[in-house]
Amino acid sequence: MAKLNNNYLKLKAGYLFPEIGRRVKSFSDNNPENAENLIKCGIGDVTEPLPLAARNAMKSAVDELGNHDTFRGYGPEQGYDFLRTAIANGDYRDNGILVKDDEIFVSDGSKCDTGNILDIFGNGNKIAITDPVYPVYVDTNVMAGNTGEANESGAYEGIHYMPCNAENGFVPEIPQDRVDLIYLCYPNNPTGATATREQLEKWVSYAREHGAVILYDAAYQAFIQDQSVPRSIYEIDGARECAIEFRSFSKNGGFTGVRCAFTVVPKELMAEDENGEKHSLHPLWSRRQSTKFNSVSYPVQKAAEALYSDDGKNQVKSLITHYMENAQKLRSTCSEIGLSVYGGQNAPYVWVACPDSIDSWGMFDKMLNEANVVITPGAGFGKAGEGFFRISAFNSKSNVDTVCERLKATL
Ligand code: MLT
Repeated sequence: MAKLNNNYLKLKAGYLFPEIGRRVKSFSDNNPENAENLIKCGIGDVTEPLPLAARNAMKSAVDELGNHDTFRGYGPEQGYDFLRTAIANGDYRDNGILVKDDEIFVSDGSKCDTGNILDIFGNGNKIAITDPVYPVYVDTNVMAGNTGEANESGAYEGIHYMPCNAENGFVPEIPQDRVDLIYLCYPNNPTGATATREQLEKWVSYAREHGAVILYDAAYQAFIQDQSVPRSIYEIDGARECAIEFRSFSKNGGFTGVRCAFTVVPKELMAEDENGEKHSLHPLWSRRQSTKFNSVSYPVQKAAEALYSDDGKNQVKSLITHYMENAQKLRSTCSEIGLSVYGGQNAPYVWVACPDSIDSWGMFDKMLNEANVVITPGAGFGKAGEGFFRISAFNSKSNVDTVCERLKATL
């Protein structure tokens, strides 16, 4: 009989968001009269329409595909040059950060890239992951065989968990021991925290000293309001030698359904083979993408490029303002009712301490049943998320106003 990948059998619960979906469906099936009042602030999924610049670019690209002279088949596996250049200029070089066009790898999402990147790393790496954390980093390491079994609290043997809490501002301490791959996500999902330049400098210096690689998820960088907060790990000197950065159009351009993202792999970044010989990771990731991926469709890449036009930039700015005004309202409502609130100032997530004597899944059930609002239980992001819940600011203004009223009435 065919053998399966045993590592999949180590995975504990189902993936967090399908599990939430299952509970919401069961609530809706059992309470059809309340189902239409439900407001979803669980998964961070955008609600506002696609920017006009992106729609127009996508439509013209479709028309090009409808004409013999301008038809295109397979595109380059790493992405079209027009988009790689627009990204390298718009997100990096225009801000004085060195990133070359061919260090950009266009993809269909940061969720996929943060998981797939493990293909180019060997066995035996010590993996450092924050707790709480975006569950994809943990689960993909389990699938890749980088962990042992989970213990009763759901922590996997072999992972170096880095607790993030109110005391450390949800930015982990530098490990005392050697770790090889370090996942950092700032602005953070789920806590909405940001890391300062000084904190990132310490991480870069640790990584360079120990030959570690930082996997920096900057999917929420567009939500940063405080100009002193770094948007890219490459703002830090030396980061090109120790970091891969993941970015996405999902949240800033409203592309969660359209699918387009990119990963930056600087050519200086090295890792060693089993004989201790150093190799650049850039050609490995390029090779991986050429073999397993055919990039993103032409109309989608044209739409992404259009986000860098003057109109596109203004439309993205309006989307960010919309969601950040929601975050602000959610923050002040939670504070008003006496809850401790974090995040929501440079990120579209508000991270809230549960009222006394209620755990995070209890809070999820209470909000679902009594307020008809879906939130995300902190425990779904790891053990250190227990005692917290996350409210996503991705919603319409009127829904957020209603959520604020319901929070006041329920808590
Ligand atoms: C979240 O809610 O944490 C995110 O939407 C998940 C994702 O981006 O995959």
